[in-house]
Amino acid sequence: MQYSTTTAKPSNRHVDCLIVGIYAGDTLGNGAGDVDQSSRGKIKRLIKSGDLSSKLGHCTVLNDIDGVRAPRVAVVGLGKQQAFSAKQFQTAVTAALRAISGSKCKSVLNCLTLEPVENASGYYLARYTAQAVASVLYRFTQMKSGKQPATSSLRRIELSLANRSGAAKAMLGLEHGDAIGFGMSLTRDLGNLPANICTPGYLARSAQKLARDNKLLHTRVLGETEMKRLGMHSLLSVSAGSNEPGKLIVMQYKGGGKQKPVVLVGKGVTFDTGGISLKPGPAMDEMKFDMCGAASVIGTMATVVRLKLRINLNVIVPTVENMPSGTATRPGDIVQSMSGQTIEVLNTDAEGRLILCDALTYSRRFKPDTVIDVATLTGACVVALGHHRTGVMSKNNQLAASIVAAGEVAGDYAWQLPLDDEYAELLQSNFADMANIGGRDGGAITAGCFLAKFTDGLNWAHLDIAGTAWASGKQKGASGRPVPLLTEFLLARSGALP
Ligand code: BES
Ligand code: MN
Ligand code: ZN
Repeated sequence: MQYSTTTAKPSNRHVDCLIVGIYAGDTLGNGAGDVDQSSRGKIKRLIKSGDLSSKLGHCTVLNDIDGVRAPRVAVVGLGKQQAFSAKQFQTAVTAALRAISGSKCKSVLNCLTLEPVENASGYYLARYTAQAVASVLYRFTQMKSGKQPATSSLRRIELSLANRSGAAKAMLGLEHGDAIGFGMSLTRDLGNLPANICTPGYLARSAQKLARDNKLLHTRVLGETEMKRLGMHSLLSVSAGSNEPGKLIVMQYKGGGKQKPVVLVGKGVTFDTGGISLKPGPAMDEMKFDMCGAASVIGTMATVVRLKLRINLNVIVPTVENMPSGTATRPGDIVQSMSGQTIEVLNTDAEGRLILCDALTYSRRFKPDTVIDVATLTGACVVALGHHRTGVMSKNNQLAASIVAAGEVAGDYAWQLPLDDEYAELLQSNFADMANIGGRDGGAITAGCFLAKFTDGLNWAHLDIAGTAWASGKQKGASGRPVPLLTEFLLARSGALP
């Protein structure tokens, strides 16, 4: 995609389509105002006749308007003007792009960047635009037979600016948004691939491919023999029932000199049957998405590498397949984790924490500044927060707050859940140092408490993305979240934000 900015009057601009917006109460956005004037009141007349909707995200494409050079004008509803903020901007620009993505448009001028948005600078409006382009154009067709038609004719996106002074920041926003879109698309591809293709070995090869031809990035993959030597028996107890060998993927990006690294740990269960504690049949296919944490940290790494951020970032992906078999772990089995602590596996379906705990212990060797794990960890988190916000847990409330804040500006929403000691008591075991489940109540939190037992002394946070990593039903597919949140967090640290 080509990106640029322009200060030309929208109606004078020779592009295939303009995107303009109208607010509730017959108020025209700046782009719509220009189109209306140049066409002697066409927009206002269409509003009067009820042919244009100002409802947020409703879009009508008009053709051949007199006085307007562009042959198409996509008029998108912006809702109430007082309520128009970053979130509404993202909804509107996504809806407009979706409305024209199937057409023959090659070039588009987005005039919504002329609107004043209270809680977002021009940099962010540009970034949201580029990210929306990537998400609207995303298709997953690799598993369909036959030749797939081109997804869209869109080649060029221009942003309308009031004056040249904001151009550099807008271009930076476009570059960042494009890179976030790239990382999200990789995350979605890895998530959408079926478990017979996307095995632990496949994830490892994908991580190695990213490091090829990149001097700043190095990928290492540990096999089961090496993990056994390190004492990762908790992780290995999950892969024990599968014919696919488990792996530990370690990616190291060095763009920050001597700084302490941020470590991202992603749950990579390529398929979660539940093991001997077998899951019920309905929708079990969706457990191919149980590696979306892994996919999102690999995708975030891809974004960071593309932007050459001046930080040190390590990604650790424990990846296994959770299967029932004669060699599988049984309920009641006791395993020793790399930390030395013993775990009674009361439920083999609570496997994510069993692989994460060893990966978190492994992260200590990097003397990290911050460790964040990302996991489709609990159905309970979906009950608590639904599909809109990711769960954030940390013993460090400041770290949790900065993660939630990063999600807020990135449009990738999260919410903190508590980790009080009282919840951790539910993990008590009669036979080992701890059990791997704490019962039904507060399930997202007791899972967080389990992980906290392995992160003593680390500046650590846990993201439960069980509700946000993918959509079910007709729109079934990976979302690419929380790549925007994680990237925003890293951009803020690296001083790359304007
Ligand atoms: N991968 C699942 C969590 C999950 C379930 C995510 C459904 C999204 C949708 C995880 O491994 C799991 O099975 N968790 C159990 C934990 C329980 C046994 C304590 C759960 O949430 O039911
Ligand atoms: Mn499970
Ligand atoms: Zn799982």
